[in-house]
Amino acid sequence: MANEFVVNPWEVKGDIDYDKLIKEFGLKPLQNLPEEFSDNVLFSRGFVFAHRDFNKILDCIKEKEPFVMMTGLMPTGKFHLGHMMVAQQMIFYQNLGAKIYIAVADIEAYHQRQQSLEDSKKIAIDEYITNYIALGLKPENCEIYFQSNRSGDGKKASAFYRLQNQLARHATFNEFKAVYGDLTPGKIIASTLQASDMLHAQLPEFEGKIPVVVPVGSDQDPHIRIARDMAKRFPEYQFDSLCSTYHKFMPGLGSGKMSASDPNSFIALTDSPSEVKKKINKHAFSGGRETLEEHRKLGGNPDIDVSYQYLTYFEEDTQKLKQIYDDYKSGKLLSGELKKILIDKLSNFLTKHQEAREKAKNMIAKFI
Ligand code: TRP
Repeated sequence: MANEFVVNPWEVKGDIDYDKLIKEFGLKPLQNLPEEFSDNVLFSRGFVFAHRDFNKILDCIKEKEPFVMMTGLMPTGKFHLGHMMVAQQMIFYQNLGAKIYIAVADIEAYHQRQQSLEDSKKIAIDEYITNYIALGLKPENCEIYFQSNRSGDGKKASAFYRLQNQLARHATFNEFKAVYGDLTPGKIIASTLQASDMLHAQLPEFEGKIPVVVPVGSDQDPHIRIARDMAKRFPEYQFDSLCSTYHKFMPGLGSGKMSASDPNSFIALTDSPSEVKKKINKHAFSGGRETLEEHRKLGGNPDIDVSYQYLTYFEEDTQKLKQIYDDYKSGKLLSGELKKILIDKLSNFLTKHQEAREKAKNMIAKFI
Protein backbone atom coordinates (compact mmCIF):
# COMPACT_ATOMS: atom_id res chain seq x y z
CA MET A 1 0.00 0.00 0.00
CA ALA A 2 1.53 3.28 -1.10
CA ASN A 3 -0.35 5.29 1.47
CA GLU A 4 0.72 3.50 4.62
CA PHE A 5 2.45 5.73 7.10
CA VAL A 6 3.69 5.47 10.66
CA VAL A 7 3.68 8.31 13.19
CA ASN A 8 4.63 7.63 16.81
CA PRO A 9 7.25 8.93 19.25
CA TRP A 10 9.81 6.34 18.16
CA GLU A 11 9.22 6.28 14.42
CA VAL A 12 7.95 8.56 11.64
CA LYS A 13 7.86 7.25 8.08
CA GLY A 14 5.86 7.11 4.86
CA ASP A 15 3.66 9.60 3.09
CA ILE A 16 1.74 11.20 5.93
CA ASP A 17 -1.95 11.86 5.35
CA TYR A 18 -2.69 14.56 7.91
CA ASP A 19 -6.47 14.35 7.56
CA LYS A 20 -6.30 10.67 8.33
CA LEU A 21 -3.98 11.36 11.25
CA ILE A 22 -6.51 13.83 12.70
CA LYS A 23 -9.17 11.11 12.59
CA GLU A 24 -6.95 8.33 13.93
CA PHE A 25 -5.60 10.37 16.84
CA GLY A 26 -8.91 12.12 17.56
CA LEU A 27 -7.52 15.64 17.05
CA LYS A 28 -9.45 18.71 15.94
CA PRO A 29 -8.47 20.61 12.79
CA LEU A 30 -7.13 24.08 13.60
CA GLN A 31 -9.42 26.64 11.98
CA ASN A 32 -10.86 30.13 12.35
CA LEU A 33 -7.99 31.60 14.30
CA PRO A 34 -8.23 35.21 15.50
CA GLU A 35 -6.22 37.97 13.87
CA GLU A 36 -3.22 37.66 16.22
CA PHE A 37 -2.36 34.54 14.21
CA SER A 38 -2.89 35.86 10.70
CA ASP A 39 0.61 37.31 10.18
CA ASN A 40 2.36 34.12 11.15
CA VAL A 41 2.85 31.76 8.21
CA LEU A 42 3.01 28.74 10.53
CA PHE A 43 -0.65 29.32 11.29
CA SER A 44 -1.88 31.12 8.18
CA ARG A 45 -0.47 28.49 5.81
CA GLY A 46 -1.52 25.44 7.79
CA PHE A 47 1.83 24.19 9.10
CA VAL A 48 0.20 24.05 12.52
CA PHE A 49 -2.81 21.98 11.51
CA ALA A 50 -4.55 20.41 14.50
CA HIS A 51 -5.15 20.76 18.23
CA ARG A 52 -6.69 19.52 21.45
CA ASP A 53 -8.62 21.99 23.61
CA PHE A 54 -6.91 24.99 22.04
CA ASN A 55 -10.04 27.13 22.45
CA LYS A 56 -9.12 27.57 26.10
CA ILE A 57 -5.89 29.26 25.03
CA LEU A 58 -7.71 31.40 22.47
CA ASP A 59 -9.96 32.59 25.30
CA CYS A 60 -6.90 33.50 27.39
CA ILE A 61 -5.48 35.49 24.50
CA LYS A 62 -8.79 37.27 23.95
CA GLU A 63 -9.36 38.05 27.63
CA LYS A 64 -5.69 38.81 28.29
CA GLU A 65 -5.59 36.07 30.92
CA PRO A 66 -2.27 34.39 31.76
CA PHE A 67 -1.31 31.05 30.23
CA VAL A 68 1.76 28.88 29.88
CA MET A 69 3.38 27.52 26.74
CA MET A 70 5.30 24.38 27.61
CA THR A 71 7.35 22.24 25.25
CA GLY A 72 10.49 20.13 25.21
CA LEU A 73 13.47 19.29 23.08
CA MET A 74 15.42 16.11 22.64
CA PRO A 75 19.03 17.34 22.46
CA THR A 76 20.47 15.17 19.70
CA GLY A 77 22.22 16.14 16.47
CA LYS A 78 22.13 19.39 14.58
CA PHE A 79 19.45 22.05 14.97
CA HIS A 80 17.73 22.22 11.57
CA LEU A 81 14.83 23.92 9.82
CA GLY A 82 12.37 21.37 11.23
CA HIS A 83 13.34 22.32 14.80
CA MET A 84 12.92 25.97 13.92
CA MET A 85 9.14 25.55 13.67
CA VAL A 86 8.84 24.83 17.41
CA ALA A 87 11.24 27.65 18.26
CA GLN A 88 9.15 30.13 16.30
CA GLN A 89 6.04 29.05 18.18
CA MET A 90 7.79 29.56 21.54
CA ILE A 91 8.71 33.09 20.50
CA PHE A 92 5.25 33.77 19.10
CA TYR A 93 3.54 32.79 22.38
CA GLN A 94 6.13 34.64 24.44
CA ASN A 95 5.36 37.80 22.47
CA LEU A 96 1.66 37.23 23.15
CA GLY A 97 2.46 37.34 26.86
CA ALA A 98 2.65 33.63 27.72
CA LYS A 99 5.02 32.30 30.32
CA ILE A 100 7.42 29.88 28.62
CA TYR A 101 8.58 26.55 30.05
CA ILE A 102 11.12 24.53 28.05
CA ALA A 103 12.31 21.07 29.10
CA VAL A 104 15.62 19.72 27.85
CA ALA A 105 14.85 16.00 27.62
CA ASP A 106 18.27 14.80 28.73
CA ILE A 107 16.81 11.89 30.71
CA GLU A 108 14.79 10.80 27.67
CA ALA A 109 17.95 11.00 25.51
CA TYR A 110 19.79 8.97 28.16
CA HIS A 111 17.20 6.17 27.86
CA GLN A 112 16.30 6.31 24.18
CA ARG A 113 19.56 7.44 22.58
CA GLN A 114 22.16 6.11 25.01
CA GLN A 115 23.49 9.66 25.36
CA SER A 116 25.27 10.90 28.50
CA LEU A 117 23.85 13.83 30.46
CA GLU A 118 27.06 15.79 29.75
CA ASP A 119 26.71 15.35 25.98
CA SER A 120 23.03 16.31 26.18
CA LYS A 121 23.88 19.48 28.06
CA LYS A 122 26.47 20.53 25.51
CA ILE A 123 24.21 19.83 22.53
CA ALA A 124 21.23 21.52 24.20
CA ILE A 125 23.23 24.71 24.70
CA ASP A 126 25.29 24.86 21.49
CA GLU A 127 22.57 23.71 19.14
CA TYR A 128 19.15 24.38 20.63
CA ILE A 129 19.26 27.17 23.18
CA THR A 130 21.72 29.34 21.22
CA ASN A 131 19.44 29.11 18.19
CA TYR A 132 16.31 29.87 20.24
CA ILE A 133 17.94 33.05 21.52
CA ALA A 134 19.19 34.05 18.08
CA LEU A 135 15.68 33.57 16.70
CA GLY A 136 14.29 35.93 19.34
CA LEU A 137 13.52 34.08 22.59
CA LYS A 138 13.89 36.43 25.56
CA PRO A 139 14.98 35.57 29.09
CA GLU A 140 12.04 37.31 30.77
CA ASN A 141 9.10 35.03 31.51
CA CYS A 142 11.06 32.01 30.32
CA GLU A 143 12.27 28.96 32.22
CA ILE A 144 14.54 26.47 30.52
CA TYR A 145 15.38 23.41 32.63
CA PHE A 146 16.94 19.98 32.29
CA GLN A 147 14.84 16.91 33.11
CA SER A 148 17.76 15.69 35.24
CA ASN A 149 17.79 18.91 37.29
CA ARG A 150 14.41 20.62 37.50
CA SER A 151 15.29 23.30 40.01
CA GLY A 152 17.82 24.41 42.62
CA ASP A 153 14.83 25.22 44.83
CA GLY A 154 14.18 22.01 46.77
CA LYS A 155 10.45 22.62 47.15
CA LYS A 156 10.01 23.04 43.41
CA ALA A 157 12.23 20.11 42.50
CA SER A 158 10.41 17.82 44.93
CA ALA A 159 7.02 18.89 43.60
CA PHE A 160 8.09 18.10 40.03
CA TYR A 161 9.50 14.63 40.74
CA ARG A 162 6.73 13.84 43.25
CA LEU A 163 4.20 14.50 40.49
CA GLN A 164 6.05 12.22 38.07
CA ASN A 165 6.09 9.41 40.63
CA GLN A 166 2.46 9.81 41.62
CA LEU A 167 1.24 9.99 38.01
CA ALA A 168 2.52 6.46 37.42
CA ARG A 169 -0.32 5.01 39.52
CA HIS A 170 -2.93 6.41 37.16
CA ALA A 171 -2.24 4.43 34.00
CA THR A 172 -2.23 0.68 33.55
CA PHE A 173 0.50 -1.40 31.98
CA ASN A 174 -1.87 -2.23 29.12
CA GLU A 175 -2.55 1.43 28.46
CA PHE A 176 1.17 2.11 28.18
CA LYS A 177 1.45 -0.88 25.86
CA ALA A 178 -1.42 0.30 23.69
CA VAL A 179 0.06 3.78 23.40
CA TYR A 180 3.75 2.90 23.01
CA GLY A 181 3.92 -0.63 21.60
CA ASP A 182 7.10 -2.33 22.80
CA LEU A 183 7.78 -1.22 26.35
CA THR A 184 10.99 -0.83 28.30
CA PRO A 185 11.38 0.59 31.82
CA GLY A 186 13.11 3.58 30.20
CA LYS A 187 10.11 4.30 27.96
CA ILE A 188 7.73 4.26 30.90
CA ILE A 189 10.01 6.60 32.83
CA ALA A 190 10.34 8.95 29.85
CA SER A 191 6.56 8.98 29.51
CA THR A 192 5.76 9.81 33.16
CA LEU A 193 8.57 12.36 33.18
CA GLN A 194 7.20 14.06 30.07
CA ALA A 195 3.73 14.04 31.69
CA SER A 196 5.23 15.85 34.67
CA ASP A 197 6.96 18.29 32.26
CA MET A 198 3.59 19.12 30.72
CA LEU A 199 1.53 19.26 33.93
CA HIS A 200 3.77 20.62 36.68
CA ALA A 201 3.40 24.30 35.76
CA GLN A 202 -0.10 24.08 37.26
CA LEU A 203 1.12 23.02 40.72
CA PRO A 204 1.03 25.54 43.58
CA GLU A 205 4.86 25.46 43.76
CA PHE A 206 4.98 26.78 40.18
CA GLU A 207 2.27 28.94 38.53
CA GLY A 208 -0.77 27.50 40.30
CA LYS A 209 -3.78 26.44 38.25
CA ILE A 210 -3.30 27.88 34.75
CA PRO A 211 -4.05 26.78 31.17
CA VAL A 212 -1.04 25.19 29.44
CA VAL A 213 -0.56 24.74 25.71
CA VAL A 214 1.98 22.25 24.39
CA PRO A 215 3.01 22.79 20.74
CA VAL A 216 4.54 19.62 19.27
CA GLY A 217 5.04 17.54 16.16
CA SER A 218 2.23 15.03 15.77
CA ASP A 219 4.52 12.12 16.73
CA GLN A 220 4.28 13.39 20.32
CA ASP A 221 0.51 12.96 20.64
CA PRO A 222 0.73 9.54 22.35
CA HIS A 223 2.60 11.24 25.22
CA ILE A 224 -0.09 13.88 25.39
CA ARG A 225 -2.96 11.37 25.36
CA ILE A 226 -1.55 9.39 28.25
CA ALA A 227 -0.67 12.55 30.23
CA ARG A 228 -4.22 13.86 29.80
CA ASP A 229 -5.63 10.53 30.98
CA MET A 230 -3.36 10.32 34.01
CA ALA A 231 -4.14 13.93 34.95
CA LYS A 232 -7.88 13.29 34.82
CA ARG A 233 -7.59 10.43 37.30
CA PHE A 234 -5.29 12.24 39.68
CA PRO A 235 -7.13 12.50 43.01
CA GLU A 236 -4.78 14.91 44.81
CA TYR A 237 -5.01 17.83 42.43
CA GLN A 238 -7.50 18.97 39.81
CA PHE A 239 -5.52 19.73 36.69
CA ASP A 240 -6.83 21.87 33.89
CA SER A 241 -6.80 19.50 30.89
CA LEU A 242 -3.75 19.99 28.69
CA CYS A 243 -4.11 21.95 25.46
CA SER A 244 -1.90 21.04 22.52
CA THR A 245 -1.23 21.96 18.91
CA TYR A 246 0.38 19.84 16.21
CA HIS A 247 2.58 20.94 13.34
CA LYS A 248 3.40 19.07 10.17
CA PHE A 249 6.86 17.65 9.65
CA MET A 250 9.27 19.71 7.60
CA PRO A 251 9.95 17.65 4.46
CA GLY A 252 13.53 16.44 4.10
CA LEU A 253 15.57 17.45 1.06
CA GLY A 254 15.12 14.00 -0.51
CA SER A 255 12.13 12.05 0.71
CA GLY A 256 10.64 11.58 4.15
CA LYS A 257 10.90 14.12 6.95
CA MET A 258 13.84 16.33 7.79
CA SER A 259 15.85 14.28 10.26
CA ALA A 260 19.00 15.04 12.22
CA SER A 261 20.13 11.46 11.71
CA ASP A 262 20.38 11.89 7.91
CA PRO A 263 22.75 14.75 6.96
CA ASN A 264 21.49 14.80 3.36
CA SER A 265 17.94 15.40 4.57
CA PHE A 266 18.42 18.62 6.52
CA ILE A 267 19.57 22.20 6.39
CA ALA A 268 21.10 23.16 9.71
CA LEU A 269 20.96 26.70 11.02
CA THR A 270 24.75 26.61 11.21
CA ASP A 271 25.22 25.52 7.56
CA SER A 272 27.19 28.07 5.53
CA PRO A 273 25.56 29.65 2.47
CA SER A 274 27.85 27.63 0.20
CA GLU A 275 26.87 24.37 1.92
CA VAL A 276 23.21 25.29 1.54
CA LYS A 277 23.68 25.98 -2.14
CA LYS A 278 25.36 22.61 -2.63
CA LYS A 279 22.75 20.72 -0.61
CA ILE A 280 19.78 22.24 -2.42
CA ASN A 281 21.22 21.87 -5.88
CA LYS A 282 22.29 18.30 -5.25
CA HIS A 283 19.64 16.87 -2.92
CA ALA A 284 16.41 18.92 -3.02
CA PHE A 285 13.77 16.78 -4.68
CA SER A 286 12.53 18.53 -7.82
CA GLY A 287 9.09 18.57 -9.35
CA GLY A 288 10.62 19.69 -12.64
CA ARG A 289 10.60 17.74 -15.89
CA GLU A 290 13.37 15.56 -17.32
CA THR A 291 14.31 17.96 -20.12
CA LEU A 292 14.14 21.68 -20.65
CA GLU A 293 11.85 21.17 -23.61
CA GLU A 294 9.37 19.07 -21.65
CA HIS A 295 9.46 21.49 -18.74
CA ARG A 296 8.65 24.46 -20.94
CA LYS A 297 5.85 22.54 -22.60
CA LEU A 298 4.27 20.68 -19.66
CA GLY A 299 5.37 22.75 -16.66
CA GLY A 300 6.70 21.63 -13.27
CA ASN A 301 4.85 20.31 -10.24
CA PRO A 302 5.29 22.69 -7.28
CA ASP A 303 3.17 20.47 -5.01
CA ILE A 304 5.87 17.79 -4.86
CA ASP A 305 8.86 20.13 -5.27
CA VAL A 306 10.81 20.41 -2.01
CA SER A 307 12.32 23.82 -2.87
CA TYR A 308 8.83 25.19 -3.41
CA GLN A 309 7.66 23.63 -0.11
CA TYR A 310 10.49 25.42 1.70
CA LEU A 311 9.52 28.70 0.03
CA THR A 312 6.00 28.38 1.42
CA TYR A 313 7.76 28.59 4.78
CA PHE A 314 10.31 31.32 3.96
CA GLU A 315 8.58 33.59 1.43
CA GLU A 316 6.25 35.69 3.53
CA ASP A 317 4.90 37.69 0.60
CA THR A 318 1.87 35.63 -0.47
CA GLN A 319 1.59 37.45 -3.79
CA LYS A 320 5.19 36.63 -4.70
CA LEU A 321 4.73 33.04 -3.63
CA LYS A 322 1.70 32.65 -5.85
CA GLN A 323 3.61 34.08 -8.81
CA ILE A 324 6.37 31.52 -8.25
CA TYR A 325 3.79 28.73 -8.05
CA ASP A 326 2.07 29.80 -11.27
CA ASP A 327 5.32 30.36 -13.18
CA TYR A 328 6.71 26.99 -12.14
CA LYS A 329 3.50 25.21 -13.03
CA SER A 330 3.30 26.86 -16.43
CA GLY A 331 6.91 26.02 -17.26
CA LYS A 332 8.04 29.64 -17.34
CA LEU A 333 10.21 29.10 -14.25
CA LEU A 334 12.81 26.31 -14.44
CA SER A 335 13.81 24.00 -11.62
CA GLY A 336 17.28 25.57 -11.35
CA GLU A 337 15.73 29.04 -11.20
CA LEU A 338 13.33 27.97 -8.48
CA LYS A 339 16.22 26.52 -6.51
CA LYS A 340 18.12 29.77 -6.91
CA ILE A 341 15.23 31.76 -5.43
CA LEU A 342 15.28 29.50 -2.39
CA ILE A 343 19.07 29.50 -2.09
CA ASP A 344 19.16 33.33 -2.10
CA LYS A 345 16.38 33.54 0.45
CA LEU A 346 17.99 30.99 2.77
CA SER A 347 21.52 32.41 2.44
CA ASN A 348 20.23 35.81 3.39
CA PHE A 349 18.40 34.43 6.40
CA LEU A 350 21.28 32.21 7.56
CA THR A 351 23.92 34.94 7.27
CA LYS A 352 21.90 37.20 9.57
CA HIS A 353 20.98 34.32 11.85
CA GLN A 354 24.59 33.25 12.26
CA GLU A 355 25.58 36.77 13.30
CA ALA A 356 22.75 36.71 15.85
CA ARG A 357 24.06 33.34 17.10
CA GLU A 358 27.41 34.90 17.98
CA LYS A 359 25.67 37.49 20.17
CA ALA A 360 23.37 34.82 21.61
CA LYS A 361 26.33 32.85 22.96
CA ASN A 362 26.97 35.59 25.53
CA MET A 363 23.37 35.42 26.74
CA ILE A 364 23.12 31.72 27.63
CA ALA A 365 23.70 32.37 31.35
CA LYS A 366 20.53 34.47 31.47
CA PHE A 367 18.48 31.45 30.43
CA ILE A 368 19.81 28.51 32.46
N1 TRP B 1 9.67 13.73 23.78
C1 TRP B 1 10.04 14.98 23.18
C2 TRP B 1 10.90 14.70 21.91
O1 TRP B 1 11.24 13.59 21.63
C3 TRP B 1 10.78 15.89 24.12
C4 TRP B 1 9.97 16.33 25.32
C5 TRP B 1 10.26 16.07 26.63
C6 TRP B 1 8.77 17.12 25.31
N2 TRP B 1 9.35 16.67 27.44
C7 TRP B 1 8.43 17.32 26.68
C8 TRP B 1 7.99 17.70 24.31
C9 TRP B 1 7.32 18.07 27.05
C10 TRP B 1 6.87 18.44 24.67
C11 TRP B 1 6.53 18.62 26.03
O2 TRP B 1 11.27 15.59 21.21
